[in-house]
Amino acid sequence: MKQLLIRHSSPLCGEICISGSKNAALPILAASLLSTEPVRIANIPNLSDIKILCEILTCLGCTVNTKGGHVLSVDASQVKNLIAPYDLAGKIRASFLIMGPLLARFGKVRMALPGGCPIGSRPVNLHLKGFAALGAEISQGYGYIELRAPRLTGARLYFDFPSVGATENILMAATLADGVSILENAAAEPEIVDLANFLCSMGASISGAGTDTIRVQGVPYLCGTDYTIIPDRIEAGSFMIATAITRGDVTLRGVICDHLKPVTAKIQEAGAKVFTNDESIRVCADSPFHSLDIKTLPFPGFPTDMQAQMMALLSTANGTSIITETIFENRFMHAAELTRMGADIQIEGRTAVIKGTKRLTGSRVCATDLRAGASLALAGLAADGYTTISGIHHLVRGYENFDQKLRTLGADAEFITLS
Ligand code: UD1
Repeated sequence: MKQLLIRHSSPLCGEICISGSKNAALPILAASLLSTEPVRIANIPNLSDIKILCEILTCLGCTVNTKGGHVLSVDASQVKNLIAPYDLAGKIRASFLIMGPLLARFGKVRMALPGGCPIGSRPVNLHLKGFAALGAEISQGYGYIELRAPRLTGARLYFDFPSVGATENILMAATLADGVSILENAAAEPEIVDLANFLCSMGASISGAGTDTIRVQGVPYLCGTDYTIIPDRIEAGSFMIATAITRGDVTLRGVICDHLKPVTAKIQEAGAKVFTNDESIRVCADSPFHSLDIKTLPFPGFPTDMQAQMMALLSTANGTSIITETIFENRFMHAAELTRMGADIQIEGRTAVIKGTKRLTGSRVCATDLRAGASLALAGLAADGYTTISGIHHLVRGYENFDQKLRTLGADAEFITLS
């Protein structure tokens, strides 16, 4: 069984480069299904979720080539199979993002209900409501969902919640629909903007991405393109907290500072210094942290994907902090594991009350989801002695060379295999 072994760290220092964004790369890979011409995508992170989506694309009939390192090309001209394989689709929630492109290009698609992190019930009703608004017929049974629509028709639709995945799926479908679509209360995350920029580079006509109203004028076809994915703001935020929790001094290269504003504001409020530059961000911390109140919200609010890591930091702060999780209903599973390491955390519904403690202690803990894994690793850097984290397959879904990057900054962290 693979585990991550982390030892109490002296202050992290040095520089690392942030990888491409997982959550931008996944919808962009799915969007490559919209064209019969090849697309070339650079800055793709080397992660297991990306590999699974590439396997799904290959099963559908795409040719996926790794051009070495972080560049992929996808040729979807020969797609024949419109049924996503059950075993693969069940592994990652982002598999559901092939629905919009396949429906728009071929008029039908069938796939298993998606998998992903165990952080909540994660329904797909908003995706389905959006497809129905564009004219799709929906049938469901035996673990599969099937969509049919000989032609999609542009429509005005209002998302009950600004779901990232639903906005992406409907945005992709609307690019090839007849007429104009207006997506209201749409998600405004940087990954939505990156997807819209990718689609526009293929010839789509989209305005308003990054606001709550997106307008799409359908076009008859989309062409090939050459595109570079944005940096991963969650990976960057996680290393900002790794720096802060060890009272270190680290520069992160290849970031977009605007995407990190909500995290930067909270790290500064806690007492660390943050210096931003064109494409880099430097975090320095040398004194104890203040307690904070945080509420997770859709962008530009504080990201739910940074909540667990921030909880690790606040476990070591002076005073009592409160975190309210408004996006997912079951995203505090890391709290029990942090408590095992000496943190003082009480959970009441969607609120966590964290009383800062002077000393965390290394323990055997288990990552229950992707960001929980990162949170425990960050706590392990601050804890006395050794921490071993199991359930590490979650962590490698979202962090490329996590142990190696930590070692570059001076940490003692390595993946080990226990029999
Ligand atoms: C994406 C990110 C994930 C991040 C999340 C919120 C990817 C691959 N994943 O996930 O890392 O934590 O955004 O920023 O990009 N919901 C419904 N019905 C739906 C869809 C969503 O009720 O049809 C609910 C979800 O259960 C959840 C909330 O809306 O409570 C937010 O989900 P959503 O924004 O869709 O997240 P994902 O796209 O799944």
